[in-house]
Amino acid sequence: MHVYGADYYPEHWSQSMWDEHIKIMKEYGIEWVRIGEFDWALIEPIDGVFDFTILDRAVDKLRDKGIKIIFGTPTATPPAWLVKKYPEILPMDRSGRVREPGSRRHYTPNSPIFRQYAMRLVGEYVQHYADAADMWQVDNEFGCHGTKFSFTENDRKAFIEWLKKRYGTLENLNAAWGTIFWSQTYDDWDEIVFPLNTPTFENPHQMLDIHRFMSDSTIDFMNAQIEIIRKYSDKPITHNFMVDFMDLDYKKMARYIDIVSWDNYVATDDYDPLRQSANHVMMRSLKKSPFLVMEQQPGRVNWRQRNENYPGEYLGMWTKQAYVDGALGVMVFRFDQIRFGAEQYHGGLLDYASRPTKRLVEFSKAREETCGVVNPIRRVAIYFDYENEWIHRINHINRDFRYWDSVVEIYKAVRRIGSNVDFVFSDDDLEEYDVLIVPYAFKIEKTFVNKIKDFKGPVYMTCMSGLKDEKNWIVENAPEGLTEEFGIEVVDFGAIDDKEMLLNNVPHRARYWQDEVELNGAKVVSAFVDGTPALTLNTSSGKERFYVTSVLDENTWIEILHDKLPLRIVGSDVQFAEDSDNMYILNLRNSPNVIYLNSQKLKLEPFELRKVIK
Ligand code: GLA
Repeated sequence: MHVYGADYYPEHWSQSMWDEHIKIMKEYGIEWVRIGEFDWALIEPIDGVFDFTILDRAVDKLRDKGIKIIFGTPTATPPAWLVKKYPEILPMDRSGRVREPGSRRHYTPNSPIFRQYAMRLVGEYVQHYADAADMWQVDNEFGCHGTKFSFTENDRKAFIEWLKKRYGTLENLNAAWGTIFWSQTYDDWDEIVFPLNTPTFENPHQMLDIHRFMSDSTIDFMNAQIEIIRKYSDKPITHNFMVDFMDLDYKKMARYIDIVSWDNYVATDDYDPLRQSANHVMMRSLKKSPFLVMEQQPGRVNWRQRNENYPGEYLGMWTKQAYVDGALGVMVFRFDQIRFGAEQYHGGLLDYASRPTKRLVEFSKAREETCGVVNPIRRVAIYFDYENEWIHRINHINRDFRYWDSVVEIYKAVRRIGSNVDFVFSDDDLEEYDVLIVPYAFKIEKTFVNKIKDFKGPVYMTCMSGLKDEKNWIVENAPEGLTEEFGIEVVDFGAIDDKEMLLNNVPHRARYWQDEVELNGAKVVSAFVDGTPALTLNTSSGKERFYVTSVLDENTWIEILHDKLPLRIVGSDVQFAEDSDNMYILNLRNSPNVIYLNSQKLKLEPFELRKVIK
């Protein structure tokens, strides 16, 4: 990897501490820092008065010592004077309550006055640091803390303009939203309001457009900043995406930035290393290129119900895992450990007395083992679409079902067999892949329907796929445009809890949803105990087209996929990848582990990364 660094907050310390911090950075190989993303009030303490004195001093010291700098544009923390003068910049939540200042992200991108002030700030900031910057980060974690949504009058007006662009006429909108249902027909654009606090279920077609609009509003705000940055700087631009985060269309956002970066924090109460890996791979898949970990969890965080203190060795492993999944670098959040503020319990690479910790030692050691950027060979493509996440959220026949969780089950199965994955989107080519999986994809873009038909290798498609269209209507013949390809038609469906199916005479469990399918050429490979189809196979086109009528777990997917994918690795808590030169075996345990690679026994040390030349 090329980028080793940490997120640093000089403004949180007396200037006398900076030299000490920078000395430690040099000692432990910290070559990059990210600064400034929360410094609006420091840089513009009074409306229109810009003062870069303090940050300049820190920047000079860092650059004097050859430390590269990522500047974050500080629009995520509007200052008190701006809120006092223009309270309309504050967002409003779904219950119609204003989200007050006092933390961060208290703005709506659809407030014209906020945009005006934000763009002025970004203009001043970028011009001032254009020569000092090695990279730019726009704002910080768009959509975090549920801030994708805001329902102020400014948001409503912007939404109506967005709808006019999308539908042109009210007639088109009424048709697409099916407003004849429950007398929701609109005769005037200005009648359209956000469905806040409705007595019962909202209009699912309107809700999908609200998801789209809110995501687009954020992207538009990001692009307005990017436009300013590009005017004064040719350095790469990124935005820091989040773990397991599906509120915003990251695929669409990634189009406009040069490098995808993300913040790697443990996503679940019970740490699941392959789930973290699924996030790495999603980030790599957005632009099919190496990504940066902009914030790597150091050990303890402050924002979970229980914030355990992971031993320093974990940071070493997390850094190696990012490397094996194709990262170009890791920045740890945060270098310094702050003694005050909302995140005073958050761990850092230094302790509260600014002394190096075991975390810093382990990070520095991992640096030695992660030279270059791994370009892993990927055989399996998993189809993904952020809009499907929103469609799953809006309404469902089984509200316990979670799209990403169920996709991650498949991802983990493929990785445990020893193959690697790309998440693919509608506009991606599928040439390089051996196996294609299309899971729970309510809406499949027409372009991708054709790519499925043209795919030479086996395709596995699951229930819920091709059942809805881009208006969020249910289609007449599902899977839409693919009934002949898979030799089945979905004639009905319903929620299930825990239903047994037999696969190679071994019982497996199926959950959440079961399709009732009519066979039109396909044969049954596996059935439920009640005899209904669980897995069908159609080969009439000369290609293998599997249809899975329910939601299956990791182990069942391993059972289904292992005869199509070479079994490279036997063992648990291990991650395997290979590129053209090497194989990479990462022990995900903080204890010794024995695994078999191509039936050769390997004894691995705790969190060891073993590189085997091919
Ligand atoms: C996020 C933010 C950081 C900080 C960390 C805490 O990722 O970007 O500013 O709040 O979480 O873990």
